[in-house]
Amino acid sequence: KGYVSIGLLGLGTVGTGVVKLIQHHQEQLVHQVGCPVSIEKILVKNLEKEREVEIDQSLLTDDPYDVVLNPNIDIVVEVMGGIDETRQYLLEALKAKKHIVTANKDLIALHGSELQSTAVENQCDLFYEASVAGGVPIIRGLTDGLSSDRIQKLMGIVNGTTNFILTKMDKDGLSYEKALSDAQELGFAEADPTADVEGLDAARKMAILARLAFSMNIELDDVEVSGISQISKEDLKYGSTLGYTMKLIGYAHQENERAEVSVQPTFLPNGHPLATVNDEYNAVYVYGEAVGETMFYGPGAGSLPTATSVVSDIVAVVKNMRLNVTGQSHLSPQFPKQLKNQNE
Ligand code: HSE
Repeated sequence: KGYVSIGLLGLGTVGTGVVKLIQHHQEQLVHQVGCPVSIEKILVKNLEKEREVEIDQSLLTDDPYDVVLNPNIDIVVEVMGGIDETRQYLLEALKAKKHIVTANKDLIALHGSELQSTAVENQCDLFYEASVAGGVPIIRGLTDGLSSDRIQKLMGIVNGTTNFILTKMDKDGLSYEKALSDAQELGFAEADPTADVEGLDAARKMAILARLAFSMNIELDDVEVSGISQISKEDLKYGSTLGYTMKLIGYAHQENERAEVSVQPTFLPNGHPLATVNDEYNAVYVYGEAVGETMFYGPGAGSLPTATSVVSDIVAVVKNMRLNVTGQSHLSPQFPKQLKNQNE
């Protein structure tokens, strides 16, 4: 048909960014994939709501199956969030031979292997670069850029909301509540911000990263989690008088097919590279046996940065479609190694 059609599930912060990027970077996309990329349908909750992007009203629907089972759609882009219903829609879309691009870390952390095996069975692509660290290409960094190395350790700030809150409390003296409501207004926080502040969002992202970095079957339950809701301005001040900055740090380490993954508030010496990562920015330090130390840094949340990862995944799918090599995902299709400590 001479173009690729996208069906969008969701038109919130990230969905709006995806629409803008596809509209404004169309020339760049045609250059990358050799044909136009067009949005065919968009699932929204409220058809009447005013939108901040210009969209033809006839593209909007409130029936998910207008997207999931639409015969004209090649790629379903899921930016609606949620777990059980969303999982169902994506499984049905894969069975209807639609490729999937998703930003949904909750879904990938919990049901990534089921979605991947369904994708492979149906010769469909499944990509989720936007699920971790917004606009930072950490997933491709690990699975492509560093695929020849044995990754031993990851350490990072992977939640923009909590990093924003800690920065504003520490540097601008804001209260925890005010910093959180600013993060919500800026569109960084999850629909239920408990997932951010209690460390669960970061834990989901660390499970995904550790799984990819170590090719191991790491589950969310394997991650030890604590969040920042009990941290006070006084704690931060006390640390700062001693030369320390508090960050919510995700840590993953492997040795002899055993892995340790955790998320916890941690005091870092002020000179540590992760101590200087502020606001909604994310950074992941990766230690590989051969490469040594590397660091990935950039905006970890927000509309256009996250949309960049989503639309770059669309580019990857279209390239695979053109080469007739679909059925790909980020994780190697070989069944990942079982964690030794999972069996004990
Ligand atoms: N709530 C998430 C964060 C959004 O603050 O990092 C990006 O995944």
